[in-house]
Amino acid sequence: MISMTAGATSITTKAGMTAFHNPLKSSTMKAKSWRFTALAALPLTLWLSHASADTPAAASATPPMAAAPTLTPAEFDHARQIYFERCAGCHGVLRKGATGKPLTPDITRARGSEYLKTFIKYGSPAGMPNWGTSGDLSDSEVDLMARYIQLDPPTPPEFSLADIEKSRKDIVPVAKRPARKMNQYNLDNLFSVTLRDAGEVALIDGDSKQIINIVKTGYAVHISRMSASGRYLYVIGRDARLDLIDLWLPKPDIVAEVKIGLEARSVETSKYKGYEDKYAVAGSYWPPQYVIMEGDTLKPLKVVSTRGMTVDNEYHPEPRVASIVASHFHPEFVINAKETGKILMVNYADLNNLKTTTIDSAKFLHDGGFDATGRYFLVAANASNKIAVVDTKEDKLAALVDVGKTPHPGRGANFAHPKFGPVWATSHLATRPSA
Ligand code: HEC
Repeated sequence: MISMTAGATSITTKAGMTAFHNPLKSSTMKAKSWRFTALAALPLTLWLSHASADTPAAASATPPMAAAPTLTPAEFDHARQIYFERCAGCHGVLRKGATGKPLTPDITRARGSEYLKTFIKYGSPAGMPNWGTSGDLSDSEVDLMARYIQLDPPTPPEFSLADIEKSRKDIVPVAKRPARKMNQYNLDNLFSVTLRDAGEVALIDGDSKQIINIVKTGYAVHISRMSASGRYLYVIGRDARLDLIDLWLPKPDIVAEVKIGLEARSVETSKYKGYEDKYAVAGSYWPPQYVIMEGDTLKPLKVVSTRGMTVDNEYHPEPRVASIVASHFHPEFVINAKETGKILMVNYADLNNLKTTTIDSAKFLHDGGFDATGRYFLVAANASNKIAVVDTKEDKLAALVDVGKTPHPGRGANFAHPKFGPVWATSHLATRPSA
């Protein structure tokens, strides 16, 4: 088994900043349909304004709101791009709020342009970055964003299995790949290091500390994950581009590529005995769904939506797929839907008769890792200040543990405590409130 510090190490190159907009633009997905003309996507827009009419924020804004600001089509496209790359991660594509507050027009128009500009420029200690003073956005871009978020959010397109298949590239077909490892690298000590803004990963030989290859991947790679055999490395960008790297090539490189949606964070491969390297699964933030693919070609086989009810039995239109891990006890993927707080144990033994055990935990599931035995998966419900403990053998919630504020464990850390024995530890983004 390969143990690799993949993805956990990420190098952020400030140098790539100026070229920030290019990577996504060049891979512009089916974005045309939700460009300026998407304002005419009335049904959802109407539905959204109807739904938000009941919120207290809207009620408190009863004095007639300022007229919606106007944007030229070019400004709108520019703002949409910035929002998608810089803001959607925290505020949600539909702006209904997640880590960041909701930014729907009923709220933003009541706040007014001056307030919004100041907030966007200077940020806040509660977690809103200072986009203006950090130099990431110019004053005119801050002004643009303040106007943009007072308009109805455009509805991004769906992304079907056919769209995914259309984007797929068989760069080195399976038949042309080597039958055995064709290099001398010690794959147990290989690092995949994210070169964030460059849209690349560096493969580094841990023994010699030499760079083996730098490969072009999606933008701001979020995760690198090894296949069960250790031959393949899967790398997914925030722009939902998934690359498959074959580590058996004389010089490890990309052999297949696919775009699984518009925004994504997670990828995993089948690890259960008999299914090693057979399937890959990737989860997207938009559209809210996951896709199961062939492990060696990335050919999509099945797409499943995560839209539905939260653990509080309220409908959520955008439950984004957060972390995914593979069970060692069953042929199952453990898929965490952020906004609903539901943990999906998806059995991949029969894709046509897909069996899923849905475990209710707590809202805003994020990242997590296994305990030392590999049986328990511990996942952060970050905004609930809890860690959900899933028993992957029994497919049950074993515990919901109150922890400090905003747990963000990564994989967490396992160590043997002299008194308590095996322990799993998480870190937090905020300090534990006293009392
Ligand atoms: C890292 C997460 C994060 C990102 C990225 C982010 N925000 Fe925020 N944002 C927050 C948080 C958290 C708050 C609430 C802060 C508070 O209450 O003090 C917030 C608040 C705001 C507010 C004030 C809302 C209100 O009702 O008071 C605005 C406006 C805003 N964000 C706009 C943006 C824009 C525009 C972008 C992209 C350029 C962006 N945010 C990116 C986390 C984020």
